[in-house]
Amino acid sequence: MFFARLLIVTALATQNALVSAAARYGKCQCLYQSHFNHGTYIISKPGEYKLCSNIQFAPGKPNSTASDEEIALAFDPVVVGGTAYEKNEYALGFFAALVIAAPNVTLHLNGYTIQQDPSHALLQRFFAVIELASAPFIPNAGPAQFVSKDLTSATNFRLNGPGTIGLSSHHGIHGNNNRNVIISNVKFQDFEVAAVSLNDVKGLSIVNCQVVRNRHDVPVLGSFSVARQILPYVKALKERKREYSMNLRGKKTTAAQVYTSLIRSIANVYRDVMEQGFVDSVSHPNEFKLFNNPHHVIDGPCYAFLVHGKGPAVGGQGFTMSVNESSISESVDIRNNQIENIRCFTNEVPALVVNNTVQIDARGAVFQLIDTLTNEWIACDKRIHYKGNVITDAQLMVAKAIHNGVLHDSPLLQTNVSSISKDLIKWAEDPESVFKPHFRCNGDIMHHVVKGTIVVRVEDTRGFTIKGNVINSATVLSGPAAATADYFKWFSRNRHSRNQASWTCSSYHNGSSVEDGTEQQLGNLRGISVAAVGSYHLKNNSTDHSCILGNTITGFASKNANCIVGIDMQGVSEGVLVANNDVDLSERVGSNTDDHYISFRVRKFASSGNVVKQNNKFVQDTLYEDIPGRKLRNKKAIPPQNHPHVSFVNEWEYGGCPFGKG
Ligand SMILES: *[C@@H]1O[C@H](CO)[C@@H](O)[C@H](O)[C@H]1NC(C)=O
Ligand SMILES: *[C@@H]1O[C@H](CO)[C@@H](O)[C@H](O)[C@H]1NC(C)=O
Ligand SMILES: *[C@@H]1O[C@H](CO)[C@@H](O)[C@H](O)[C@H]1NC(C)=O
Ligand SMILES: *[C@@H]1O[C@H](CO)[C@@H](O)[C@H](O)[C@H]1NC(C)=O
Ligand SMILES: *[C@@H]1O[C@H](CO)[C@@H](O)[C@H](O)[C@H]1NC(C)=O
Ligand SMILES: *[C@@H]1O[C@H](CO)[C@@H](O)[C@H](O)[C@H]1NC(C)=O
Ligand SMILES: *[C@@H]1O[C@H](CO)[C@@H](O)[C@H](O)[C@H]1NC(C)=O
Ligand SMILES: *[C@@H]1O[C@H](CO)[C@@H](O)[C@H](O)[C@H]1NC(C)=O
Repeated sequence: MFFARLLIVTALATQNALVSAAARYGKCQCLYQSHFNHGTYIISKPGEYKLCSNIQFAPGKPNSTASDEEIALAFDPVVVGGTAYEKNEYALGFFAALVIAAPNVTLHLNGYTIQQDPSHALLQRFFAVIELASAPFIPNAGPAQFVSKDLTSATNFRLNGPGTIGLSSHHGIHGNNNRNVIISNVKFQDFEVAAVSLNDVKGLSIVNCQVVRNRHDVPVLGSFSVARQILPYVKALKERKREYSMNLRGKKTTAAQVYTSLIRSIANVYRDVMEQGFVDSVSHPNEFKLFNNPHHVIDGPCYAFLVHGKGPAVGGQGFTMSVNESSISESVDIRNNQIENIRCFTNEVPALVVNNTVQIDARGAVFQLIDTLTNEWIACDKRIHYKGNVITDAQLMVAKAIHNGVLHDSPLLQTNVSSISKDLIKWAEDPESVFKPHFRCNGDIMHHVVKGTIVVRVEDTRGFTIKGNVINSATVLSGPAAATADYFKWFSRNRHSRNQASWTCSSYHNGSSVEDGTEQQLGNLRGISVAAVGSYHLKNNSTDHSCILGNTITGFASKNANCIVGIDMQGVSEGVLVANNDVDLSERVGSNTDDHYISFRVRKFASSGNVVKQNNKFVQDTLYEDIPGRKLRNKKAIPPQNHPHVSFVNEWEYGGCPFGKG
């Protein structure tokens, strides 16, 4: 009796709260699955919304009788949504299930789950369950021009749990230039890149959320996205009045041939994954070799929460705050969240450099010759004769057509980032042609800077509180950094392959911070990392410190790390208070200054304006980099060609590297 009454009282109280909210904002609009069946649902009016069913995003999902071509081209916004979707914004597919492009929107998950369907997650490798802006990139950033008119970013946005933001091939929530975002009481699971990732956000609270795990059944590598993204270009070449063709390996090859091979590969992967979860190595060995993800976790950048200054976080970790105050994130509060089971690896993809230029395709993907997961040549033989595969054939044909003026830049088929040189095309045309490849290391398949894994990353931010979070269990599965002694040792066990590559890195991605210019970071793991941050106000004083307070960090592992750091204060950071944290990275590791476990590190450019209280429990040792003596293992000396200080003023605007450059 007593309990029943209590329940009724609680229910009434909740209802009253809802009623008064409804009175304030007008009717709370229900969102059902049907709102998402024809593409991204765009909220463009202020108001209060709630989920009234679970949402599984797969608009235009191919059915069981779909042909190879229908599968390979599935989910095309132009086909599924007609004219409802702007060409620039949706050029790379439905980039979100739900877009918030209005001020003053509140969304209640209402106990339901919103997520990407596994079919869409496979074919649309770039995605956010909720995008907090009308486009996924700001103007003039990213691998294409995504903004047709203006970018409309959400302001005063609230996301209320209980409820779940589930499966996503990239982000749970992603946004640019947002103001006042509150995310509370939400469960995140099965995202690949990050639960929440916001660039240039002023006013953010992520509170009382639960990150159950990131996605642990990722079937494919980034190469699958490369295949899907290059396909529409080949289709355009096939459909010309005079069909395009070129010599590949000395043989005349038509666009139709390249197209047919590509769609068959994509469809083979799709059917395997839909039926059994992964690419079948027996029935589709070529697809398995090119696309299979051996670790089943994202093969690139990997976070729970990421806050960054203006622009995409594709460069290295921050060094100094942006000189332009308007580009800096402000007032970020990450509090009382529980983050568990983060598992990641980085697939370092050596980028081919010809004539001093990294060779990338029309969508910004690297022209890949070496598979660092097996150390094999994948598009040529040992004597460096072109052999090719479905991806490189397509990349070369598209590049040649761009050189020839056959493909022109258009919103759906943008061509400006393509940098594959005529020399490389000539090489692939002639089966006897040989060249000496040069590789630039420390980038991933999109030539983003490799920076290891960071569970909570806050940078280029003035004023933050990271408090009371529990981070338990983070594992990095990366192999040794490409072309290092450890790397070749790692592969000496499987010399059986006829295609083992013998090669070296000629240069390294220039995008890393000066602090990291001497290492390839793919194995590195950090719990909380702040870089290029300051206190809440311009004039720092003891009362307005940013803080890292009372966080607990446990259960970290990475076999090939140079360092595993609980709390890392990097770049020119000042006005940060670090107190009352409990960091015990591994039960088996104590305070040993010879190993690569560090509970707390302050890097050498952090100023003395930071305060570290004595009441932290740091089980592994602490490292102040300006105090000499502590060494890290495996550090590979890389020529200091890293991101120069001055670049933050204007060389690479917004602290990120231009795609494919560097
Ligand atoms: C499958 O989809 C196609 C068109 O997309 C349609 O013509 C066909 O009838 C569908 N087949 C089944 C079995 O639903
Ligand atoms: C959004 O909310 C703010 C603060 O409540 C209010 O000042 C503003 O007029 C609202 N904007 C719109 C478009 O509703
Ligand atoms: C690509 O370059 C051309 C010529 O410089 C320019 O007119 C066009 O706007 C560019 N396209 C994009 C999407 O930036
Ligand atoms: C700072 O950024 C804003 C908005 O991004 C821009 O309008 C302004 O020109 C920039 N100021 C400087 C000095 O670069
Ligand atoms: C090499 O780059 C230079 C300068 O960008 C250019 O003029 C030249 O044509 C390029 N050579 C080849 C073979 O692509
Ligand atoms: C610290 O700085 C802030 C902002 O400038 C100011 O409001 C506050 O009064 C300062 N506190 C002290 C003790 O100086
Ligand atoms: C903050 O304080 C530290 C030392 O107290 C000082 O080195 C730094 O320059 C100050 N920063 C600002 C922006 O005033
Ligand atoms: C990398 O940076 C160094 C130092 O700033 C510069 O000398 C070099 O030319 C850069 N390399 C590339 C490929 O941009």
